[in-house]
Amino acid sequence: MLKSVLPYMGEYKKYTKRAAVLMLAGIIFSITPYFFLYQIMVPLVAKEPVDLKFVLVRVLLMALCEILYSMLYVTGLENSHVSAYNTLKNLRISLQGKLEEQPLGNIQDIGTGRIKKVFTDDIDQIELLLAHAIPEGLANIVIPVLVIVLMFVVDVRVGLLTLVPIFIGGFAMSMMMKAGFAKMDAYYKSAAVMNNTIIEYVNGMEVVKVFNKDGESYKKLGDTVRKYRDFTLAWYKTCWPWMAVYTSFIPCIALLILPIGSLMVLSGSLTIGKLLLALCMSFGIGSPFLRALTFAGKIPQLDYKIAELEKLLDHEPLKSQGKAFLGKDMDISFKDVRFSYKDEEVLHGVNLSLKKNTTTALVGESGSGKSTLARLLVHYYDLNSGSISIGGQDITDMSLEALNDRVSFVAQEQFLFNTSLYENVLIGKPNATKEEVMEALKRAQCEEFLQRLPEGVNTNAGDGGKMLSGGERQRISLARAILKNAPIIVLDEATAFMDPENEEKMNKALDEIMKDKTVLVIAHRLSTIKNADKICVMKDGNIISEGTHSELLDKSEEYKKLWEASLSASTWKIKGEA
Ligand SMILES: Nc1ncnc2c1ncn2[C@@H]1O[C@H](COP(=O)(O)OP(=O)(O)O)[C@@H](O)[C@H]1O
Ligand SMILES: [Mg+2]
Repeated sequence: MLKSVLPYMGEYKKYTKRAAVLMLAGIIFSITPYFFLYQIMVPLVAKEPVDLKFVLVRVLLMALCEILYSMLYVTGLENSHVSAYNTLKNLRISLQGKLEEQPLGNIQDIGTGRIKKVFTDDIDQIELLLAHAIPEGLANIVIPVLVIVLMFVVDVRVGLLTLVPIFIGGFAMSMMMKAGFAKMDAYYKSAAVMNNTIIEYVNGMEVVKVFNKDGESYKKLGDTVRKYRDFTLAWYKTCWPWMAVYTSFIPCIALLILPIGSLMVLSGSLTIGKLLLALCMSFGIGSPFLRALTFAGKIPQLDYKIAELEKLLDHEPLKSQGKAFLGKDMDISFKDVRFSYKDEEVLHGVNLSLKKNTTTALVGESGSGKSTLARLLVHYYDLNSGSISIGGQDITDMSLEALNDRVSFVAQEQFLFNTSLYENVLIGKPNATKEEVMEALKRAQCEEFLQRLPEGVNTNAGDGGKMLSGGERQRISLARAILKNAPIIVLDEATAFMDPENEEKMNKALDEIMKDKTVLVIAHRLSTIKNADKICVMKDGNIISEGTHSELLDKSEEYKKLWEASLSASTWKIKGEA
């Protein structure tokens, strides 16, 4: 039952075992007072003279038992928590390992909200199960079993009486678990759907407000929240009757023993002492057994939760031999590259070669596969078939570090960490001097807006860079790439959010940076890539034509169309501004 968690417990298994033993000892001390109570009661019932010292010693012993019980139980909990939190640590580290092996693209597709939830909330819930359900459940089941055996030793008939409520309770419990299991999957799924909807709702708040979609998206959120309620209530509804049966039957062992036992005493087949002993012992069965049952119900959840966690990142790991970069130069070659995100192929056998120290531009209408091709060069995903190589070495042959050292990738939306802008640029080259960082910022046209910020380059970027405008974020990302100074540069609409004035300045700066580099550029304004050494026209996942600007104007209808569209867009803009 606990197979799924054992690998993560590792050496901490012994803490859980120790916890169970300590708690067991603790519980034994929690029920021994009933034995002393019995010893005090017997002479009282027999109307024998009471020895005060005898009673006092028993009372003191009872107090001592209570103290020992607390101490042992707390020490047990301490051990179980050491085990639990270390297991959580192991789980998180193992997930991190899986996360690192995963293609970056897959991680983005799963979504940060979902991954965050797994790493924090879901794993935290496992704590309750590990630290409490297993050791306490174990300890709480052993005691009642022990006491029942003792009951049989006292008197077989009383022992059998004890079993009646236990069997009824146990049956009710198993019925409840069976009914609960059948609904558990749907229940967890509805919880997951609700969580995702809430994350989506909060993330999309801006759109919701601007487009006055409050009503509609609130309805979607409301629906999932209501569905979750319905599932939870349905789950409880099937469980409630059974719960009522076992919670009321199990603790009433004494109620059964008292009348029937009294009859036996009256008929002379049971001594009053034995009846008293049995009554006192019966208190040691009900409540631990109930607790054990409650915990037992939780243990299957542990397997379920761990299986869910593992499933989330259970994709093929990224193919990477992890070797150093061995390519002889920066010539890049895409050979018959086929790729699909899910089922539908989006690149259908692309062949493309980028000569070192030249600039190659990709153009084509939206959705033609330009960004996909760029992402594949930085190994966000593995290919379905074909190959991509740098200097003759396949990119799956080299480690991601080796690849990343050679390539700067600047996408349209680049992530900024919630630290200072300075540190965000420094990521490009962690050992850079302050002068180098400032120079990179200057070349990326950041100076003008940095002056406006209260703390200049030390200003915090905010969560995901939200303190900056889109164009400003892009310029910080470019500064990062400029500082990194990698021999290969991939720019995917890296200046799309800039206003024309800044973009012009930026393009001048880029021209200089791109000198003597191997560059793959995707630009939303064709005028900026007019001078590229080679332009490739993409359509529906294929390269349909390639050449220089003037060659393509002659031979490619598609290119002419794109060029004219881009011209009219810019004249339209100028007219609009005038
Ligand atoms: N993360 C993704 N998951 C699934 N499909 C995607 C993803 N990104 C892009 N696509 C699909 O792949 C195709 C090519 O997209 P893309 O490479 O972004 O085109 P472009 O950059 O030329 O606009 C499109 O049909 C797009 O819908
Ligand atoms: Mg794109």
